[in-house]
Amino acid sequence: MKAMKPGMSEREVQGIHEFVFKKYQAEYEGYPSIVGEGNNGCILHYIENYKPEISSDKMILMDLGAEYHGYTADVTRTIPVDGVFSDEERAIYDLVYKAQDAAINAAKPGVNIQRDLDRAIARKIINDGLVELGIIESPDDRHLFFPHGLGHHIGLDVHDKGNYDKLEPGMVITIEPGIYIPEGANCDKKWWGIAVRIEDCILITKEGSELLSDLAPRHSDEIEALMKQPSPLDSFILPDLEKGG
Ligand code: GLY
Ligand code: MN
Ligand code: MN
Repeated sequence: MKAMKPGMSEREVQGIHEFVFKKYQAEYEGYPSIVGEGNNGCILHYIENYKPEISSDKMILMDLGAEYHGYTADVTRTIPVDGVFSDEERAIYDLVYKAQDAAINAAKPGVNIQRDLDRAIARKIINDGLVELGIIESPDDRHLFFPHGLGHHIGLDVHDKGNYDKLEPGMVITIEPGIYIPEGANCDKKWWGIAVRIEDCILITKEGSELLSDLAPRHSDEIEALMKQPSPLDSFILPDLEKGG
């Protein structure tokens, strides 16, 4: 987050993450890294990470996880490229955050991921919020702004096998709500190109859950504060090969 600069390429942002994975001795990536600026964030498994210059007025969605000694992580952060959320970006971001936080707080043994955490909590918060923002008309409207499940088991594989009936202590799952508003969507165009996913890994404990990926800030204010700080990569400038060094 500290290293993010407008004008970087999506691939460079991917490279920064993967360098840090290696710095910590992770053997592999757990899955192909997803780094999408603006509308590219709406493409769920966008692994081209092609865009050469990310724009200062967009957000960037970064879904990357290291594989370490056979186990994989799966974490997504979505941040404003220039370090400051616009009003529309913050409205969508904070709604996804509210849905994620509520689902994390409700996760405990005996709970069902799809029925209790996804439908009754996260999807309900998102649908009610989309109505408040005027993006859909009724919480019962059919729409594609949250087109995937809330979470999955994670472990040896990124989408690991597991019991989806009832959570049990020792299980590790992701909680990953998202809102994706592609260009041309049926809503005010001020929302177009905003794509937000926040994804964390939680360990189910006897009492509730433990957030395993909390070193990476999630709250919009914490993200803005961190992005104001300098990065050791600010002075990492390579020769310009086109000019012959
Ligand atoms: N990175 C794939 C997923 O979030 O499920
Ligand atoms: Mn996931
Ligand atoms: Mn992911």
